[in-house]
Amino acid sequence: MRIDILTLFPDMCETVMGESILGRAQQKGVLEIHCHQIRDYTDNRQKQVDDYPYGGGLGMVMYAQPIADCFRAVCAQAGVRPHLIYLTPQGNLLTQERAKELAAMPGLCLLCGHYEGVDERVIEALVDEQLSIGDYVLTGGELPALVLADCVARLTPGVLSDEACFTEESHYSGLLEYPQYTRPAVWEGREVPPELLSGHHAHIARWRREQSLLRTRRRRPDLLEQAEQEGQLTAEDRQFLENLPPDESETAR
Ligand code: ADE
Repeated sequence: MRIDILTLFPDMCETVMGESILGRAQQKGVLEIHCHQIRDYTDNRQKQVDDYPYGGGLGMVMYAQPIADCFRAVCAQAGVRPHLIYLTPQGNLLTQERAKELAAMPGLCLLCGHYEGVDERVIEALVDEQLSIGDYVLTGGELPALVLADCVARLTPGVLSDEACFTEESHYSGLLEYPQYTRPAVWEGREVPPELLSGHHAHIARWRREQSLLRTRRRRPDLLEQAEQEGQLTAEDRQFLENLPPDESETAR
């Protein structure tokens, strides 16, 4: 998968994307990340990228022209027109579901805004989708773009070593993930749940499923209701939930 990032801070994006799992995925050739400096595409001698908003008001607005020219250069370089996403708190909320769909696209281009945002006309002319990473405001679109790039890239085949890594985890199946433990079996007097030491695969799987259900019910009842409505709960799951006392704590087995 190829992801292009249009930004005023390409070094920041390259540093983050070059580390750890995504860095290795790029070295392996299963992932291509290209960060582009929007300022390089300005048509003024001062290399100015923003200006005062028409109508007055605080802050600066990014010019349409360097963004459009930067995106067109990316299209020419990539040989295709990637799906262009503008990161903004005004966008639709990013979900795991949308990330899965975006991961199936051949290429994505992420536009990072700054200051008071970008000239609306470049959004009208070129942007395919607007996404927010949450109902709070950051100083720019770089961190949201990196969150999105990470979330999508790790769903790309070959990026993670084992597919089970993401098919088991929180949100993928509509439930939160069960708790995980590693050695030692007793740490500062706290024991690993005995079910996990039993070696009995079916018991372990059932225990994990029940922990997922408990955790989701306690922390995100909205997700549990959705899983129920979408038919993601088995008869066994429903029975387990129905038999729980109302004050069931998350750690109870
Ligand atoms: N830019 C600033 N805040 C943002 C957010 N929450 N999501 C996406 N882009 C943003």
